[in-house]
Amino acid sequence: MLKKLDKVQKEALAALDKAQDELALQQWGTLHIGRKSALMEIFIGMGKLSEEERPQVGRKANEVKQALENALEARTFELKQEAIKTSLESELLDVTLPGRDQTRGRLHPTTQTMRRIYSIFAEMGFQVYLSRDVETDEHNFQLLNFPPHHPARDMQDSFYTTNPGVILRTHTSPGQIRAMREYSEENPENPPPVRIILPGMCYRYEQVTARSEMQFTQVEGLAVGYNITFGDLKGTLTDFARRYFDPNVRTRFRASYFPFTEPSAEMDVECFVCGGGGCTVCKKTGWLEILGSGMVHPMVLRNGGYDPEVYSGFAFGMGPERLTMLRHRVDDIRNFWRNDLRFLEQF
Ligand code: PHE
Repeated sequence: MLKKLDKVQKEALAALDKAQDELALQQWGTLHIGRKSALMEIFIGMGKLSEEERPQVGRKANEVKQALENALEARTFELKQEAIKTSLESELLDVTLPGRDQTRGRLHPTTQTMRRIYSIFAEMGFQVYLSRDVETDEHNFQLLNFPPHHPARDMQDSFYTTNPGVILRTHTSPGQIRAMREYSEENPENPPPVRIILPGMCYRYEQVTARSEMQFTQVEGLAVGYNITFGDLKGTLTDFARRYFDPNVRTRFRASYFPFTEPSAEMDVECFVCGGGGCTVCKKTGWLEILGSGMVHPMVLRNGGYDPEVYSGFAFGMGPERLTMLRHRVDDIRNFWRNDLRFLEQF
């Protein structure tokens, strides 16, 4: 009987070594230490043994049972370790590999420039007024004192919609009329004076070249109140140029013409590429034109609901793409709409 137990143990241990997975271990358990196993049969048959044989066989049977249970536990642990090892090997991770770059988003250069313009004018007390992209011919031209035969009214320059008299604005100036009509003596929520900037997209039906796009942004400015003079215009815009370009930048105003301002002037800043000596960027003049401006024309004040005998004001308009081009020496305005990351990532 003792020999039989030895044999049971030996066979069971040999079978255990061949078990390769959880299922095999389970089957092994049923077969070798389960209720119907050879070992259990020996336990059950013990009653038939003689008095002196019984304790010996009993002890031995218990030892075998304990040995097999221990072996099962050890084998289970071993298989688990093997499984972990193979899974680690299959997911080999090389911690010395360089990391992947996180590409960060950024604001479009035009947006960055526009935000700088907003904050400079905000410091001077100007609020942002958003007008509309789709305008009436009346607001875009007539109310701004464009004579009916003005060349800008030609079909070549404006994008017309299929609605007669409805166009895409060619400049941000029509917003002047809308804002003045909203900031009025009759509107207690928005009484004068008006001190606003009007940013937004403008559209012109033009040949696209390195210098002109058919879609571009403008930031318009408008101040209307009592006793506003050309000196206020010059002071405000010179201060803007100093804050935007350089605290020591020199500026000059050149007489110009816009139908909606009188007098009108364009402002130049000293060329910061050559310092005024003359180069290709300033076309040898030493000056760079950065904006158009003027005192609001009496007709325009009247169209906005203000009596030109009582009120006066100034207005200006600048192009953020142009300012960005000057500041960063971008030589082709088409870059702003190309969405070429090699360009955009430089800002
Ligand atoms: N609207 C003008 C333009 O598009 C710029 C401008 C605005 C000039 C306000 C004077 C006053 O060129």
